[in-house]
Amino acid sequence: MRNTRVIVTRYGGPEVLRVAEEERPEPKAGEVRVRVLAAGVALPDVMAREGVHPETPPVPFTPGWDLVGVVDRVGAGVPEFQPGQMVAAMPIHGAYAGFVCLPAHELIPMPPGLDAAEAVCLVLNYITAYQMMHRSVKVRPGQRALIHGAAGGVGTALLQLGRLAGLEMYGTCSSRGAPAVSDLGGIPIDYQHQDYVKEIHRLTGEGVDVVFDPIGGAHLWHSRKALRRGGTVVGYGLIGSIRGEGLTSSRPGRRQRFRGTAIFASYIAAGWLLPGRKRVVPYSIQTLKRLQPTWFRQDLIALLDLLQERKIKPLIAARFPLAEARHAHELLGKGGVTGKLVLVSSGSSLEPAMA
Ligand SMILES: NC(=O)c1ccc[n+]([C@@H]2O[C@H](COP(=O)([O-])OP(=O)(O)OC[C@H]3O[C@@H](n4cnc5c(N)ncnc54)[C@H](OP(=O)(O)O)[C@@H]3O)[C@@H](O)[C@H]2O)c1
Repeated sequence: MRNTRVIVTRYGGPEVLRVAEEERPEPKAGEVRVRVLAAGVALPDVMAREGVHPETPPVPFTPGWDLVGVVDRVGAGVPEFQPGQMVAAMPIHGAYAGFVCLPAHELIPMPPGLDAAEAVCLVLNYITAYQMMHRSVKVRPGQRALIHGAAGGVGTALLQLGRLAGLEMYGTCSSRGAPAVSDLGGIPIDYQHQDYVKEIHRLTGEGVDVVFDPIGGAHLWHSRKALRRGGTVVGYGLIGSIRGEGLTSSRPGRRQRFRGTAIFASYIAAGWLLPGRKRVVPYSIQTLKRLQPTWFRQDLIALLDLLQERKIKPLIAARFPLAEARHAHELLGKGGVTGKLVLVSSGSSLEPAMA
């Protein structure tokens, strides 16, 4: 039985993605084979392809942080799963495939009837947004938040969850993303033509309680200037270092990443030492999942409930067949995507494809 799989043959631009046809993998003891219905495409995939993400595997590898699929075959010693069950997982790499074998403990059962593409948005983007809001910062209704990259995958998740949490929200985006940011309850600030620190102080007076910053580097310190006394900047990405040069070759990106990490550490220290109690804290979904695996599970279940109740509706920018992963990477690398790109399997009906 055949399996389609996308492979990064060497670190580099979207052209290094190859589509391979090979035998389906067989689940070992303790593993489950999942037929992938939807795999998210996100900047961490692009960074792994470039070889600049901390979680980058050695080449060749199959990218793909997050997936939703159907249990297809169960290895020995896994009584808790049956073929046909919908599941979600965050394998960090490997999701760009028709079929993937994963350890059973990595799978989270899902309620039936959800759209796989919408549900996959929860795994990386919404858990990131949810944990930053409710685990890292513990936001309270009425607080003010500045969300950078507000029209992107994580940004739109932050806006939807922020609205549910009763936050007053401001979101930086390019002019193309402004309508989506307004629709989701944020006040858009055009990062390409406005100084967001000045804008925040003009609109709020004293500043915001929290800034969610995926840009990184010196941008984190600028974000800190938008805080009111006692506020927090949550830094969770390095978009600034992968836009431009860093996206066309792994070398500049790799240097930038190490520089970015060193700058981050100095900002965390300075946040504690300087007056005003304005903190800069890091967030990493993979680190928190390793430290607190039960939180990951609990938070995904809470988000699946919100999706089922239609209290959140992930914004899907486009759905591509698996074989068009390269096109999806080209689009995301260029920028201007509103919401999340998702790879969907051909014939993604819910019947288990039995081997
Ligand atoms: N730490 C974690 O656990 C974790 C988890 C998930 C994601 N991340 C990180 O989060 C970041 C965002 O990921 P994503 O998948 O949401 O990416 P995305 O969908 O591409 O969104 C990024 C957004 O940022 C905007 N942007 C770019 N430069 C900006 C700037 N200087 N100021 C304000 N906005 C700017 C882009 O707008 P335009 O395209 O219109 O310019 C885009 O809408 C990435 O760095 C990723 O690695 C971290």
